[in-house]
Amino acid sequence: MSKEENISVLLDEKRVFKPREEFVVQTNVKQWMDKHGIKNADELYEKADNWEWFWEEISKELVEWYEPYSKVVEWNPPYVKWFIGAKYNIVHDALDRHAHSWRKNKVAYIFEGEPGDVKKLTYYDLYIEVNKLANSLKKLGVKKGDRVAIYMPMIPELPIAMLACAKIGAIHSVVFSGFSALAFRDRVNDCEAKVVITCDGFWRRGRKVYLKEQTDVALEDAPSVEHVIVCKRTGDGVPWTPGRDVWWHDLVFDASKECETERLDANDPLFFLYTSGTTGKPKGIIHAHGGYAVGTAYTLKWVFDMKDTDVWWCAADIGWITGHSYIVYAPLILGATSVIYEGAPNYPEPDRWWQIIEKYNVTLLYTSPTSIRLFMKYGEEWVKKHDLSSLRLLGSVGEPINPEAWIWYYKHIGNERCQIMDTWWQTETGHFIISPLPITPLKPGSATKPLPGLAADVYNEQGEPVQNAGGNLVLTHPWPGMLRGIYKNPERYEKTYWSKFKNVYLAGDVARKDEDGYFWVQGRADDVLNVSGHRIGNSEVESALVSHPLVAEAAVIGKPHSLKGEAITAYVVLKKDAAPSEELRKELREHVGNEMGKIARPDEIWFVNDLPKTRSGKIMRRVIRSKALGQDVGDISTLANPEAVKEIARAK
Ligand code: PRX
Repeated sequence: MSKEENISVLLDEKRVFKPREEFVVQTNVKQWMDKHGIKNADELYEKADNWEWFWEEISKELVEWYEPYSKVVEWNPPYVKWFIGAKYNIVHDALDRHAHSWRKNKVAYIFEGEPGDVKKLTYYDLYIEVNKLANSLKKLGVKKGDRVAIYMPMIPELPIAMLACAKIGAIHSVVFSGFSALAFRDRVNDCEAKVVITCDGFWRRGRKVYLKEQTDVALEDAPSVEHVIVCKRTGDGVPWTPGRDVWWHDLVFDASKECETERLDANDPLFFLYTSGTTGKPKGIIHAHGGYAVGTAYTLKWVFDMKDTDVWWCAADIGWITGHSYIVYAPLILGATSVIYEGAPNYPEPDRWWQIIEKYNVTLLYTSPTSIRLFMKYGEEWVKKHDLSSLRLLGSVGEPINPEAWIWYYKHIGNERCQIMDTWWQTETGHFIISPLPITPLKPGSATKPLPGLAADVYNEQGEPVQNAGGNLVLTHPWPGMLRGIYKNPERYEKTYWSKFKNVYLAGDVARKDEDGYFWVQGRADDVLNVSGHRIGNSEVESALVSHPLVAEAAVIGKPHSLKGEAITAYVVLKKDAAPSEELRKELREHVGNEMGKIARPDEIWFVNDLPKTRSGKIMRRVIRSKALGQDVGDISTLANPEAVKEIARAK
């Protein structure tokens, strides 16, 4: 696909869904407007354009500093600092203050395991567990600034581990438990983790996943790791390295229940989270305590209208940014009750989620278009078996939501009562950027506008703002949850996000802004795939394929997929002595699974003799993709081997 086609406008959705007036009047945002004498939404956005003022006001209501800041923001492009000079720790807001308030006995997490076991943790329970683990980490020698890698499934010990690190000023680096041992190893080594926290195993689709075994494989070559803390989930025996491994329950057994929270600088790092980019190696995105706390709490409170009476279910995995921000930090800062579910959405039957909503009276549900399309496929009969009348707002994240899925979600899950908050954001942004408020008229498929205090635009290749035409999605001023860099790689940080347009953040997405200022995000502009709302670099899958002894070269593209958004398609050139076969295809799929994790396994693998290349030897993914999708490939006369394009056409 040529750049112009890539940037062309694909959607033209006309329907508008207005929020119900009786809902609007009770929202947090409306109450804030009333308090500030703001009459309507336009005035709100306008006032918040004075963003330094706005963030000062917002921060006052959401967080408590140990020592106040002297300046709201310091912007030395491309580096930002927020709440300069403040002493702070996010754990104070997320936990300590609730444990000493009326929220002490309020449930923070309702955990449901896949086999059906249930555990409820109050804010006080959580506080004690976090303190015990924080003291234990100290005992193992973990200090402020040390990195702790966490490889855990969706169990309450995962947020406990994250908060325990943050409490003592250590930096957590959580790796999604669906990633392979080798992917975990890369991330452990990149951040030079001193300690790893994992568990024996967990449940997925009725089967056990043996995570400790995977951890051990990862740590065969991870010299920085001194200790492994193992949490018991399945109760199975695990391989053990004496002196290095220690059971979580043994470690915390006699640990003190009180642990002083480290008073950090508001700009000290809170965590790293790795995300895929256009080159092979994932990037360690850095987030800091203060601004991130304000940005995540604000967005959850306003967009999802979070109240103390709500039961919040963000059905993402904590291993991704969505879970970090909206299962762990923001809901805890707001003192919310959240659901954590361990297992697969369709296990044992396709109504597991609807059962959970009914059982716990979930009021706010936040999920991805991929999940919605999966449930659509099963049909509304499964939904109808359950009373979902507790729901009051719905949300979507991770990829553009197609209007068909939007309408299904609105009709069958929200019963035409609940507005859908389609939130656009990224690992790098830390929190929602483009998103409706519950007072915003909605157009299915559009994430609407940048929230008050935030700014986005669409630029053409020359860096000029464009309307009603596809272009590059950019963020035009800094925001509180903005990434602070890429760990150990400032050049990559500057090049990836800040080199195309001066002092403006390049999101890497293609979008269009319509006549009402609504944004329509169409997908990635760069060579990054979006599979089920998760970012996977084409080049990462290619390097995984090429690491197989029989593979000479590989090119990976995304093809539109009705459930997953994009499906991974690989074109592989084998080494001379290898022959294509169905077995080899299976083997390569598994090989990518082992290298990266199941999510990255190609849906299709085609064996070809050659791949289209430039004269300098660069594989032309763009040409391959156009050919594979039956689109015009444009001028290929400059290719070193134009005949290779025909090979792609034959591979169908
Ligand atoms: O392409 C956009 C897509 O997901 C990318 C960010 O991926 P990640 O950092 O893994 O974070 C996902 C969860 C926040 C974006 O660059 N994306 C995310 N939300 C939306 C979206 N695309 C369209 N609409 C959205 N609501």
